[in-house]
Amino acid sequence: KHKGPLGGVRVTVTAGPTREPIDPVRVIANRSSGRMGFAIAAAARAAGARVTLIAGPVALATPRGVTRVDVETAADMHRAVLSALPSTDLFVAAAAVADYRPAAASAHKLKKTADTLALALERTPDILAEVSAHRPRPFCVGFAAETDDLLANARAKLAAKRLDMIAANRVGDGLGIEQSDNALEVLWDEGARSLPRASKEDLARELVALVAERYRLIHPL
Ligand code: C5P
Repeated sequence: KHKGPLGGVRVTVTAGPTREPIDPVRVIANRSSGRMGFAIAAAARAAGARVTLIAGPVALATPRGVTRVDVETAADMHRAVLSALPSTDLFVAAAAVADYRPAAASAHKLKKTADTLALALERTPDILAEVSAHRPRPFCVGFAAETDDLLANARAKLAAKRLDMIAANRVGDGLGIEQSDNALEVLWDEGARSLPRASKEDLARELVALVAERYRLIHPL
């Protein structure tokens, strides 16, 4: 009755950047387009999953058949993910969550009086690490965007966040953030697979097929 490699599996995907307010008109943001995460949501749906897509501020259409929840800040995304968690079998964290936010957003627009301005920043919650530490826990897939030491950094994150799989992508050199192409090194405890340069849509289909294979080893049909 459940069709496709992820038939009936409840998948939650985070995608896009988050936007952290400095004051009522200014934000700290990053260059994530959300395209990789949206493509993963579409590919998971096509593989038969029931997909919830938790999206930061992006200019992308909702993939057909996917439930979308729009969020702004890391705190919003954290809340949305925790509320989806009881009905999540498989979590894919493709969002570029801000690692730091202004410790206190100003209620009034900051005036340019001083020559220099220091902003105090604080860490945001690590959504993926928290989901992975939760019991019962969903199957967890993370991303690692790195400019240097791609594989070593990705292996370290796989272990530190106790993930089932991690998809590492090199940023810069015309790949990754703000680009339509990407290339992924997918790692798990016992293995690895290189997904060479392709469109994010093609890569998402390959990644979802690989994730489904690993997921079904733990949760056979
Ligand atoms: O440690 P790092 O930020 O490089 O890890 C990246 C992975 O962790 C991505 O999957 C990202 O979506 C997730 N993440 C998160 N919450 C954060 C920071 C990263 O879920 N605050």
